[in-house]
Amino acid sequence: MRASLFFSALAAATANAAYSGDIVSYWVDQTSALVNGTIIGGLQSPPSSWYVAIVTGAIYEAAIKSKKESLAYQQLAVSHAAHNAIVWVFHGTRNYNAADASLRAVLPAIGLAANTTDGKSAIETGRKAAKKVALARADDGISDFVDFTHGPKNPGVYQVTPGGSPFPDTPQARFVRPFAGLGNITRFRSPPPPKITEKEYEEAVVYIKAQGAQNSTVRTAYDTDSAYFWRESSITGWNRFAAVVVGNKLATKVVESAKFWAQLNFALANAGFASWDVKYAYTSWRPVTAFHRTDIWLPSGLNVSDPSWVPLLRPTPNHPDYVSTHSTFGGAAAAVIRAWNGGDTIDATWSSNVTLDNRGVITRRYTSLKAAAEENSKSRVFGGIHFTFAGQPGIDLGDTVARATLEVFDKNWDQF
Ligand SMILES: *[C@@H]1O[C@H](CO)[C@@H](O)[C@H](O)[C@H]1NC(C)=O
Ligand SMILES: *[C@@H]1O[C@H](CO)[C@@H](O)[C@H](O)[C@H]1NC(C)=O
Ligand SMILES: *[C@@H]1O[C@H](CO)[C@@H](O)[C@H](O)[C@H]1NC(C)=O
Ligand SMILES: *[C@@H]1O[C@H](CO)[C@@H](O)[C@H](O)[C@H]1NC(C)=O
Ligand SMILES: *[C@@H]1O[C@H](CO)[C@@H](O)[C@H](O)[C@H]1NC(C)=O
Ligand SMILES: *[C@@H]1O[C@H](CO)[C@@H](O)[C@H](O)[C@H]1NC(C)=O
Repeated sequence: MRASLFFSALAAATANAAYSGDIVSYWVDQTSALVNGTIIGGLQSPPSSWYVAIVTGAIYEAAIKSKKESLAYQQLAVSHAAHNAIVWVFHGTRNYNAADASLRAVLPAIGLAANTTDGKSAIETGRKAAKKVALARADDGISDFVDFTHGPKNPGVYQVTPGGSPFPDTPQARFVRPFAGLGNITRFRSPPPPKITEKEYEEAVVYIKAQGAQNSTVRTAYDTDSAYFWRESSITGWNRFAAVVVGNKLATKVVESAKFWAQLNFALANAGFASWDVKYAYTSWRPVTAFHRTDIWLPSGLNVSDPSWVPLLRPTPNHPDYVSTHSTFGGAAAAVIRAWNGGDTIDATWSSNVTLDNRGVITRRYTSLKAAAEENSKSRVFGGIHFTFAGQPGIDLGDTVARATLEVFDKNWDQF
């Protein structure tokens, strides 16, 4: 299904935008805000997309189940589905009050009292939807212990990065059951990265050493800002981007809106698992590890050692380099937004509030989804945390996984 949602607007700099009347968009925004730092210690990469997929899955289930009811009924059902899904995911944290506050804040605008017959029924519909998703995901593998042993400290092999956790981010995520019955994620696995003996590898090493350093003298101001602009969680970022592109067009079409956001976030979650499959299949080192070696390891004899080298984006994330998950998420999001937009052309202006180095608010306008995904990908190279060759295969992986997710969605969405 295609809808032309060509739209232009200015997004708020942060999540928690005021309620626009699109109940699904409202809850995606609330959900994003909880991903972003308010959860104790923040969420790691695949869980940050797994979580929003669960919430949007519950929302879509509630929307489908209430589609013949009044708009207020649908909105109330969706809100309770979202609330309960959020709470289910974050049992054990202190987010009860935050989730309650998000629900309480939107109730007056919905205007269907909880003590009416319709109100009670809508609440029940929402609660059941959240329960259905929770049951479906209870044994999906994300809670499993999967150990990880670092490989030998040879050139090219992933090692602990400075300032990061000594344990890599969620090694079990590559084994999590994909959303919408996508099937075995390993079939999407990217080809291996170049070998350290290849000329392409040396070029990438030399390039990022200059371009990605914290105080690079060759990186342009625009590229520095790109690294900052795209730094936030891909999940909060691309959901905000999508909200700008879609605008408020689906406010009274709850089922359609719910479908868009579920497709987007199922695709993002699946892209995260696929990216993890690739990362842990190849376990490639990060640029900082390459520069902190003191020996000469490039076959040409070039000495790239610089134990004081620091990337612009700090710290380097604690999981292998290849492929870039930021790129994968961007490729996936662009694919879903493109499908709904009816093409690659957009006119979307939005902002990112950058706390790193006190950069502040950066606002940019995008006219192409492809160009946005590419800039998002390159931002990680300019940030000094990914080799260039980790980028395009990441975008391609996200794009492929997202399109495959869209293909099976109508048939399998309620497998969650
Ligand atoms: C519903 O609750 C409101 C206050 O929250 C109250 O004024 C109203 O009388 C109640 N209606 C019924 C049917 O109980
Ligand atoms: C996915 O496929 C790979 C390769 O054939 C296989 O090793 C793995 O067990 C499969 N995973 C699942 C969950 O079926
Ligand atoms: C390589 O460069 C590093 C950093 O400048 C230096 O400490 C090291 O001695 C050099 N190695 C060789 C073999 O020249
Ligand atoms: C980069 O410059 C900043 C500000 O002068 C300084 O604090 C930081 O240590 C520098 N980083 C490196 C790696 O030299
Ligand atoms: C997420 O948090 C970062 C810093 O913690 C902040 O810069 C960014 O604006 C936040 N994003 C949203 C969507 O709230
Ligand atoms: C950006 O984030 C900073 C630090 O959290 C905050 O003080 C500021 O109000 C934010 N600006 C906007 C426009 O959201």
